[in-house]
Amino acid sequence: MQKPPKQLNLSPATRAAQALHIIDERTGAISPMIDLSSTYARDENYEPRQSYIYGRSGGQTVKHAEAVLTSLEGGAGSLLFASGMAAVVALLETLDTGDHVVAPQIMYHAGMTWIHRLTQKRGIEATFFDQTDPSALANAVKPGQTRIVWIETPTNPNWDVIDIAEAAEIAHAAGAILAVDCTTSPPSTTQALALGADIVFHSATKYLNGHSDMTGGVLTTANANALWDELEEIRSLQGSVMAGFEAWLLIRGLRTLYLRYDRASASALKIATHFQGHKLIEAVLYPGLPSHPGHEIAKRQMTGGFGGMMSILIKGGAAQAIDVSRFTQVFVPATSLGGVESLIEHRKSNEGPHSIVADNLIRLSIGIEDVNDLIADLEQALERVE
Ligand SMILES: Cc1ncc(COP(=O)(O)O)c(C=O)c1O
Repeated sequence: MQKPPKQLNLSPATRAAQALHIIDERTGAISPMIDLSSTYARDENYEPRQSYIYGRSGGQTVKHAEAVLTSLEGGAGSLLFASGMAAVVALLETLDTGDHVVAPQIMYHAGMTWIHRLTQKRGIEATFFDQTDPSALANAVKPGQTRIVWIETPTNPNWDVIDIAEAAEIAHAAGAILAVDCTTSPPSTTQALALGADIVFHSATKYLNGHSDMTGGVLTTANANALWDELEEIRSLQGSVMAGFEAWLLIRGLRTLYLRYDRASASALKIATHFQGHKLIEAVLYPGLPSHPGHEIAKRQMTGGFGGMMSILIKGGAAQAIDVSRFTQVFVPATSLGGVESLIEHRKSNEGPHSIVADNLIRLSIGIEDVNDLIADLEQALERVE
């Protein structure tokens, strides 16, 4: 008699590469079918055939992508949204008048704008803490009133590193949940839920998709609880679910997440090391550099690499920084991050006049091109700056 198969304990990289080894029952297709249906026929007993009823709650491809993400994050469930901001807004929608939310002073600017909007229009209180001060978060929470502690790590675009495990302890002691924006530290490097977060968020537009060809957001929860049910209801009522084709693009991107993130991390470290101390550069902000103030925490919680995101402060001011962004030939002058192509951006121009980002800051998203071409490109752009 044949021995029964041994149960293998597969690593996340394997699960991602095969999108959970889901093979189409009817055809054997190893690339998943795309479910674009907006509605689902009931069976002869007028029962839903599976869990699908109407497209606004997500169809088969959306659920497949959610299952892959839940598996990679080690969570209890995931919800995909049409954009990262749609997911952020849904989470903040769970706050009631009088509730308190805590977030870092430097975070994704549109998320911060939405929190300000809630303070002005909905009677929600907010405290923005200095993410560079280790004692600031503990002072910012209001036990019993704070409902959500929102952190982003590394913070965009300064790449300060926040200790997730410590933030979870502080949030929980105050009776709040910890939600972590891990857009730039995807599950291939950071396991936010294992470190104590209740919810991990990603703009799926970035590393998870990795090809700059869709927008999306995802929330993954550590526990299936009342908050999670509410979030699912909010998504369905708002109609902010990701569409089937986007979910398929996301699955395709996720299959190479580990490879892409590895490559971007290796190249970014080389670029950061090369340009540190350059005569036209004031500073290189990259958590992978031993000189970075958050390096020790990053080593603990970014175990699969420090990622492809860095910023450089150009000597001079905004004019010089914009010139570098204009003069590159390989780096594409565009916003966004986490794709296969390297991007360069004068961040303040993108965030607008209220931005608190330094005038001379350029944000780089390192892609998967030959790192020597990227270094040569930045060198030639810097040489042209007066
Ligand atoms: C760190 C971070 N969080 C959230 C978002 C918002 O995501 P989206 O643009 O997909 O709405 C972004 C987008 O740039 C981001 O960089």
